[in-house]
Amino acid sequence: MTQIELRGVQKFFGAVQVIKDLNLRIEDNEFIVLLGQSGCGKTTTLRAIAGLETIDEGDILIDGQAVQHLKCSDRDIAMVFQSFSLYPHMTVYENIAFPLRATRMNRADTDSAVREVAKVLRITELLDRRPSALSGGDMQRVAIGRALVRRPKAMLMDEPIGALDAKLREEMRAEIKRLHIKQGSTTIYVTHDQIEAMSLADRIVIMHEGVLQQVGSPEEVYAHPANLFVAQFVGSPVMNIASATVAEEKGKAAVTVEGAPQGFAFPQQLLGSLNGSAGRKLSLGVRPEGLVVAHEAADGFLPAEAHIIEPLGSYDIVDLKFGEQMLRARTRSGFVAKPGDRVFARIDPAQAHFFDTESGQSLGVRL
Ligand SMILES: Nc1ncnc2c1ncn2[C@@H]1O[C@H](COP(=O)(O)OP(=O)(O)O)[C@@H](O)[C@H]1O
Ligand SMILES: [Mg+2]
Repeated sequence: MTQIELRGVQKFFGAVQVIKDLNLRIEDNEFIVLLGQSGCGKTTTLRAIAGLETIDEGDILIDGQAVQHLKCSDRDIAMVFQSFSLYPHMTVYENIAFPLRATRMNRADTDSAVREVAKVLRITELLDRRPSALSGGDMQRVAIGRALVRRPKAMLMDEPIGALDAKLREEMRAEIKRLHIKQGSTTIYVTHDQIEAMSLADRIVIMHEGVLQQVGSPEEVYAHPANLFVAQFVGSPVMNIASATVAEEKGKAAVTVEGAPQGFAFPQQLLGSLNGSAGRKLSLGVRPEGLVVAHEAADGFLPAEAHIIEPLGSYDIVDLKFGEQMLRARTRSGFVAKPGDRVFARIDPAQAHFFDTESGQSLGVRL
């Protein structure tokens, strides 16, 4: 049972504030992913929770107890870093057993703990090897084993698979997920890779310049981004964002993106949902899969010209020009034959997002 809470946490390095009023509650057994660009404060947050870094304001609570004044070793939290830092002169067995030796656990208990962890991580046959004889993925498995073996209250992982090549990263991602399902334990995992975050997290915490942007399940942050930063950070290819105005037209709402000769048809309900923002300039967001592309003209579809077509195997990403405005659409592979082709497209209202251009905040429209 471990629950971690950050209350009003602030951290400065000299005059630079790198964590700004961070509030976050992590439940027992939860897998939380801290996601953000390099330099946004992820590692600092993790180190503060582990006790490797002091904080300037606020509280860090573990199971309701403030721990910000406790030493790292008194917090019972394990951390795995990107660099494996295994002891090169020790075998895999000795590396994993090392944290238990420090607790003076007896030989038989140590042995069964090491073997159990090795079994879970599927590295039993490597126990007699030295780190120099291991692949990158196996080295990271050993590092995770060493962190897990003493059954810490929580696991903190800082870009643990960032240094591995793409195929191995995918494999290790699945492995870490399997391990979490099997072992449980409250986990905070740091990455700048949104795909890793989406695939691993119970909840994703998105940070930007030391400020928490949104906390939510992968589905929530994808379907309902709280602001323009999250909208463009999560999802690949990135969400289209265009300056737009909304007006009433023949009993419906029309959303006209800058540069386009006509408006996209939306249900009239949009006008009410916008709550005074109708008529003002705002930002429209739509992911490529939110554009519906057709070969024939139909009600609500606007003409467009295909520009660049990116074949991605199971689907294509097609740049469509609506007058001067370019929006990227996702189509069945080969649906648009060649650049220059004329097609028709509409925006699926359920997949449209509206943001205040100035503040970047979502206007919370749900159609
Ligand atoms: N020990 C330090 N002294 C001064 N500045 C630091 C120190 N550690 C990190 N920083 C700065 O704090 C900011 C956040 O860093 P970090 O938490 O490592 O970000 P992330 O892990 O998200 O890439 C960065 O601007 C970084 O340069
Ligand atoms: Mg970092």
